[in-house]
Amino acid sequence: MRSSCKVAQSGAVLATLSLLCLAHEASVLDDSSGWSNYSFPDDFIFGVSTAAYQIEGAWNEDGKGESMWDTYLHEHPDFTADRLNGDVATDSYHRYMDDIQIVKDLGVKYYRLSISWPRLLPNGTDNNVNNAGAKYYRTLFEELIKVNITPVVTLFHWDMPTALMDLGGWSNPLMVDYFVDYARVAFKLYGDIINFWTTVNEPHQHCYNGYGSTIFVPAINSSGVAEYLCSHYILLGHAKAYRLYDTEFRPYQKGKIGITLDAFWGEPKDANKQEDRDAVETYLQMHFGLYAHPIFSMEGDYPPFVRERLDTYSEYEGFARSRLPTFTEEEVKALLGSSDFFGLNHYTTYLMSPSTMEPGWKVPSLEHDTRVKLEQHPKWPKPGADWLTVYPPGFRKLLNWVTNKYGRNVPIIVTENGMCDHGQIDDYERVSYYNKYLYQLLLAIHTDGCKVEGYFAWTLMDDFEWTDGYTAKFGLYSVDFNSPNKTRTPKLSAKNYRGIVKSRRINFDSFKSPISTYL
Ligand code: NOJ
Repeated sequence: MRSSCKVAQSGAVLATLSLLCLAHEASVLDDSSGWSNYSFPDDFIFGVSTAAYQIEGAWNEDGKGESMWDTYLHEHPDFTADRLNGDVATDSYHRYMDDIQIVKDLGVKYYRLSISWPRLLPNGTDNNVNNAGAKYYRTLFEELIKVNITPVVTLFHWDMPTALMDLGGWSNPLMVDYFVDYARVAFKLYGDIINFWTTVNEPHQHCYNGYGSTIFVPAINSSGVAEYLCSHYILLGHAKAYRLYDTEFRPYQKGKIGITLDAFWGEPKDANKQEDRDAVETYLQMHFGLYAHPIFSMEGDYPPFVRERLDTYSEYEGFARSRLPTFTEEEVKALLGSSDFFGLNHYTTYLMSPSTMEPGWKVPSLEHDTRVKLEQHPKWPKPGADWLTVYPPGFRKLLNWVTNKYGRNVPIIVTENGMCDHGQIDDYERVSYYNKYLYQLLLAIHTDGCKVEGYFAWTLMDDFEWTDGYTAKFGLYSVDFNSPNKTRTPKLSAKNYRGIVKSRRINFDSFKSPISTYL
């Protein structure tokens, strides 16, 4: 499908073939039935993901330090949609055995979770390790391993210790070494039993929304400047932590370690317009290549297109030097190849077209630097959040884009994919989302030859969804936040996912909606 659509966009029989492509894409959105014709390889990694601040709670217990999310949300309760925060969340700090049970019930053999940096190092620095925090993670990992579940441990899923945020967080070059110090503590404490690490989760969302705007904490809002500082130093932190593991720990701990990047897919708003097709490429380079190219390309460093654009715009705007910092030769080398796999988070697709200015864009800013307008397709379902429309073929196209650009050397592991709704237990829409996105993944493997080796559903259970508080429900399990036990109940999608994991195929008929208007 992909290749014929590509030809159609540039060839002479454009009109007819474009229609065929559209018809094909529409059919991908329709309900399928029966068993998928392809299956997941026997050694394919199936897992489920969570993150510390979104589930742990116990924000001030047993010696934990504050993270910037604790501090900021206590000071700005209006920041989240429901004025709630992660103080208690799903109470996983106390209820981790319940979590382990439901991960086990899903039948997956991998559980991706994160360490809260300030729970381990209350001030962020390695001179003061919180023993209770250290013990908590040790017990959690050991209990998972006892039931044959491999923990996949993320070091940084956005909960920067407040003490370090007060120093500027990722806009401060010193954060690189503080992060490496923290990584060393984690490798020393757990490397004997943990052999699957990710350094940083979604640096793009973290830097762009948190440093370049006010969408996420720390809400620095220094657009056009701080998001690039954050990107730069977070990349360097990742590379240095990777090199530390590679040289000092891997020789005897024998694990793997990588980074998780995120990307929306982009469809040209008008597939017949070259400028719209170019806009997609520009967007991907500016928002995704910025992070991927230094690590996964053959030559390393920022994408030349991004480098040149930022240098030119900065000069034109009167800056004494580029708003995009420069890597030294040594740093380029440290970054290049610094990931054993391509960790990829993907949720949604936008329509893209060029634009020089839009309401709400600041000058300078990443949006204005990118000059691509994002819109949502009016016909694609939008089950629960403003930003998330459902377009399964976008997933396959993204996997192909990553494979063609960077993925020939390392396997892709999808570290997050999922959708949110309003929390119904009979979540037919989520069942359909997973079936269809996973089917696109099967096509990417079997038809397109993409080397995708794993998939983690986001997320295990309804949790604290950042700015949306508890209003956006992403879980395979529902959580009764009013019950003392924070009772976890499987949704239909949990049962469906379990079926996929067990059979290694998708049965589109397992949990079909009685109403035909679902996704
Ligand atoms: C990606 C982030 O890693 C995760 O924390 C978040 O909850 C999901 N996207 C859904 O928005």
